[in-house]
Amino acid sequence: MPENSNKPAVFHEIAVTKNDILNCSYENWYSLFGAHAYSRAIMLPVPDEFIDYLESDDFTIPGEKSKPNAQNDSDWDYTPPSRPDPACRFLEFHRRIQETFKSFKHIAPKLNWSAPQDSVWMLPGRTMKCSSSSDIYLLLKSSDYINHDLSHAFDEADSVPDKIQYYLILREWKEINPSLEFRCFVRDRQLLGISQRDLNYYPFLDDLHDTIIERISAFFDDVLLPKFGSNSFAFDVYLPKPFTKVYLVDINPFARKTDSLLFTWNELATMAPHDDEVAVRLVTQHNSGRFATKAHSHNHVPRDVLDASMDSSKMVEMLQNWSAMLSKENEDTEESE
Ligand SMILES: Nc1ncnc2c1ncn2[C@@H]1O[C@H](COP(=O)(O)OP(=O)(O)O)[C@@H](O)[C@H]1O
Ligand SMILES: [Mg+2]
Repeated sequence: MPENSNKPAVFHEIAVTKNDILNCSYENWYSLFGAHAYSRAIMLPVPDEFIDYLESDDFTIPGEKSKPNAQNDSDWDYTPPSRPDPACRFLEFHRRIQETFKSFKHIAPKLNWSAPQDSVWMLPGRTMKCSSSSDIYLLLKSSDYINHDLSHAFDEADSVPDKIQYYLILREWKEINPSLEFRCFVRDRQLLGISQRDLNYYPFLDDLHDTIIERISAFFDDVLLPKFGSNSFAFDVYLPKPFTKVYLVDINPFARKTDSLLFTWNELATMAPHDDEVAVRLVTQHNSGRFATKAHSHNHVPRDVLDASMDSSKMVEMLQNWSAMLSKENEDTEESE
């Protein structure tokens, strides 16, 4: 959303405390609002040895070495000299992850604050749907968002805890319709605004405008406000058909590192609540929000696509090159058929 270009831009400081960050840690909010969470979750305290593994350069996936070597009579098979299985350093933790797959068929993993949404391209379905402990290790190990939790969770906060207890959150996988996920911004205990979370255009959302406000406001007043320990935060909800029940997906700090989606942080820091009217922002046909390649894909799209998304003339040029390339490809395939 462009800010008023006549006014000089002012950067508003947003104060975040250590406790604000801790309150948003999954195991903290889940202990208060687990009954309203979208899915069941098992929360495993992470041993230091597993943190060491995540932070190391060792890309061996734990638990994959246990398979006995298949009969190796082909010249083509080359087994590289093997590193020790990292799982031997956190066997009990590894065993508990495997155990969880007995209760949950598939798992959407995350650490205290972040899910590895930026590394889903590592899995065949390009989602966070994990079917084995190896899938989980692969997602966590390849994710910058997970690295954020390990190294930068308190960057914007006034202080840092002496020791952070990490948890691996194993959420039971449940399909979710991204068009009905919303991020809701609360400042000084006032619900200010609600934004679509997935920034594609969904025409049917317009008719839901009032329902979205009603359901989410009631959830905020009745469930969150009485119990949550911070005055400002951003909560994510899911409001599936028939739009009667609100499910909590996550709670995030009211801080610039949380994606402000269809708002800007300067707006959120300064906007006055409008006579109890909450601002709902949806992507419309005319406001495509943002050039959404695909969310969280910034570290695996070609650099020129990202650069072009900041500059419309570059974008036109790139699209022309692209369509030329595609039509060339089409010609080539037609010729070969
Ligand atoms: N139990 C679940 N099963 C499947 N997908 C889920 C589940 N819970 C959340 N998701 C999806 O994962 C996305 C990211 O989860 P979230 O906890 O909000 O991560 P982050 O805090 O890193 O943004 C959500 O927007 C939702 O689409
Ligand atoms: Mg979050």
